[in-house]
Amino acid sequence: MMDINNLNAKFSIPGHLSLIELDNQIISLNITNNFADAQISLYGAQIISYTPKNEVDILWLSPNSYFTEGKAIRGGVPVCFPWFGPHPSDQSKPQHGFGRISNWELAETRLTSKDEIEVKLRLQSSPATKSYWPFDFLAEMTFLIGKTLTITLKVTNQSDLPFEYSCALHNYLRVKEIKDCAILGLQDCLYQEDSEKIMHTQKEAKLTINQEVDRNYSNTAGYYSLVDPNHNRTIRIHKTGSLITTVWNPGSQKSQSLKDMPDDGYKNFVCIEAVNALLNTIKLAPGEAHETSTKLELED
Ligand code: BG6
Repeated sequence: MMDINNLNAKFSIPGHLSLIELDNQIISLNITNNFADAQISLYGAQIISYTPKNEVDILWLSPNSYFTEGKAIRGGVPVCFPWFGPHPSDQSKPQHGFGRISNWELAETRLTSKDEIEVKLRLQSSPATKSYWPFDFLAEMTFLIGKTLTITLKVTNQSDLPFEYSCALHNYLRVKEIKDCAILGLQDCLYQEDSEKIMHTQKEAKLTINQEVDRNYSNTAGYYSLVDPNHNRTIRIHKTGSLITTVWNPGSQKSQSLKDMPDDGYKNFVCIEAVNALLNTIKLAPGEAHETSTKLELED
């Protein structure tokens, strides 16, 4: 990886974007424009903060998160790739794939004609990625920081063989008090609880969270709203190129068992993730590509 001075010489945008070194040589991009402030870690290609002007951060970052190679950053929007959850056949491989524990290369930064900032990162297959997953691929993450935040994962098959992968844009959405919030847009959708095989249908128009929730909703494409009365705002979550929506909150007990989360961390976020997994993995022929994208915005 280039050193911080060379990265700044090549990629900084005066008044808008600079690179700094966080703990343990983890490099972050600090971004500011008329719409928002944001921070993106090259490690994990993970946006860890997105704060629209005069607002509280939309993303939650655990105050106890690791910032250490080999461990995932807890919060922001981790990228799960090329599998979601435990590896299907080898439990020794990292949960949620290697994307979130890899150093991604900074490929491009640019100020758009609308004064948004666009950042592109990429991860190319290498001997290290092949020790986990044998294929040649190019994964590209694009972040568009404006009045809305758009995050896109594009995966291209550069192998001679077809391959199949799972992925997630695993957003941690910040709320003040989860028990007071509601998620709208999932009524009549079929879901599977993480540990069960049977499908349920959500009857309620509003999903409220008072205990651990780990649901994979199928055939969900569109947008959802997270109503947070204590922050007096509603976050809208759009997604494209993803048919599964995962809603995750660890609840009190699991929160206490996660070392990188405060005991009461579960009160301050919920994940409403853009996922391709389970019956909706992505299959790519040689040369093909797929984009999974999510857009977060505050309702006016
Ligand atoms: C969610 C999964 O996406 O991520 C949960 O549905 C999992 O089952 C959660 O517990 C957090 O995973 P991790 O590896 O970041 O602790």
